[in-house]
Amino acid sequence: MIICWPAPSGRLTGNLCSRPNLLINLKNVWALVPAMKYFDFDRPVDRQNTASLKWEKYKGQDILPLWVADMDFRSPPAIMETLHRKVQHGVFGYGAVSVELVEVICQVLFTKYRWRVDPQWLVWLPGLVSGLNIACRAVGKEHEGVMAMIPVYPPFLTAPKNSNRRLVAVPLAASPHRWEIDFELLAGSVTPDTKLLLLCNPHNPVGRVFSRQEIVELVSFCDRHDIVICSDEIHCDLILDTDKEHVVTATVSPEAAKRTITLMAPSKTFNIPGLGCSFAVISSTSLRNKFLRAMAGIVPEVNILGLSAAEAAYRGGWEWLADLLDYLRENRTLVEREIGSMEGLAMHHVEATYLAWIDAREIDKVSPGLFFETHGVGLSEGTDFGLSGFVRLNFGCQRALLREALERMKKAVSGG
Ligand SMILES: Cc1ncc(COP(=O)(O)O)c(C=O)c1O
Repeated sequence: MIICWPAPSGRLTGNLCSRPNLLINLKNVWALVPAMKYFDFDRPVDRQNTASLKWEKYKGQDILPLWVADMDFRSPPAIMETLHRKVQHGVFGYGAVSVELVEVICQVLFTKYRWRVDPQWLVWLPGLVSGLNIACRAVGKEHEGVMAMIPVYPPFLTAPKNSNRRLVAVPLAASPHRWEIDFELLAGSVTPDTKLLLLCNPHNPVGRVFSRQEIVELVSFCDRHDIVICSDEIHCDLILDTDKEHVVTATVSPEAAKRTITLMAPSKTFNIPGLGCSFAVISSTSLRNKFLRAMAGIVPEVNILGLSAAEAAYRGGWEWLADLLDYLRENRTLVEREIGSMEGLAMHHVEATYLAWIDAREIDKVSPGLFFETHGVGLSEGTDFGLSGFVRLNFGCQRALLREALERMKKAVSGG
C-alpha cells in the first residue's frame, strides 16, 4: 500500500508519492519554494441551489453564510476521481467496509498519532453526532449525569437529554490568552452519578488543541471518578498552530484507552461531511459491546459513496490538506487581525479548526447572531453552544468572501 505523507511542515519529504515529478527527497527544494501551491482555494465555487444546508438558509437574501461547519472548497481530487468512478459504475447498493479502508485508517492513526489500532476496535457510523448520542445511551443509566464543557458544539448539550441523562455543564475558563479546562470547577461539579464526559478536542468552538498535560490531567480526573470519556476528535487533522500536536486521548495511558470511546471522521478534514462516514474506536471489549448494543437496529450502515470517499481521502488527500491548512492559517490571521480591530469584539487565538469564537458581549445585543444577520453576515449564535453574547464564524471559505463578511461586520459594529 502506498500513501503520501506530508512532513510536519505540511510538505512532502518522502518518496512514497503519487506525484511523478516528486519522486526524490524534496525537503530542501520545498524550503526554497514555500509559496508554491497545487490547489487553488481562492477559486470561487457557487454553492447556491445545490441543496447545501449552509447556503439554503439564506437563499435569496444578501446574507453571507459563515455558520454551519462545512467549507466552501471542493474536496481533494482523489475523492472526486473515486466518486466519479462510482457514479459511472451506476450501482448504489449497500456498502461494505473494505479491508483496504480499515488498513489505511489503522496506518494513518499509527503514523500520525502513534496509535496502534486493532481493526476490531472500529465501529462504523453514518455521523459523529450519532456517536455522541449512542455513547450517552451506552454508558450509565437514565437520570445519571453526563458532563460537557461549555461552550461546546450544540449536540453535546442535547445528547444527554435525548437519552434521559442529566447534563452537567461545566464552563471552560477564559484566561487572558486562551480557553482552558477549569479543573477546579470540574471537581466541584462532579456528582457520584456522573458516568460520562463528552470531550471535544480540538475544541469546537473555542479552537483549542488541548495539550498532553491537560489530557493526562483530565484522564486522571475521570479515573478518580470512574467516568467514561467520549472523545470527539473530528477536528484532529485541522491543527493550524505548527507548534501544537493533536494528542489522542486514548493514547495517553492504558487507563485512558480502557475508558475512552474515540470518535473520528474524514468529514471535516477533507470537506465531505455530507457523505456521512465516520467511526468510533473503542479498545475495551465491554465498552464496545455496550456501544454496539445501544446502536443495534437503529443506526444505518455507512453508504457506499461515503466509504469510497473516506478511503480515497485517507490515501490521496494529504497534499490537498497541507495546502488547505496553509490557506486556513492565512484566513485565521485575517480574522484575528480584523476582529481584534473591531470595537466591541474580541477573540482568542484559534489553534485548530476553521472556526472563530467571537466575544460580542460588549456590543450589548440580546442576540449578536441576529444583529450580524441583519447586517448581511450569517454566523452561529453563542447561546446554541451554551454561552450567550458570543458568535461563531466559519472561515473555511474563499478569502474574498471572508473579507467581504469582515467588512460588513466592521460596518455593523461601527454603526455604519
Ligand atoms: C465537534 C464536532 N462533532 C461532530 C460534528 C458533526 O459530525 P457529523 O456531521 O459526522 O454528525 C461536528 C460538526 O460540526 C463537530 O464540530
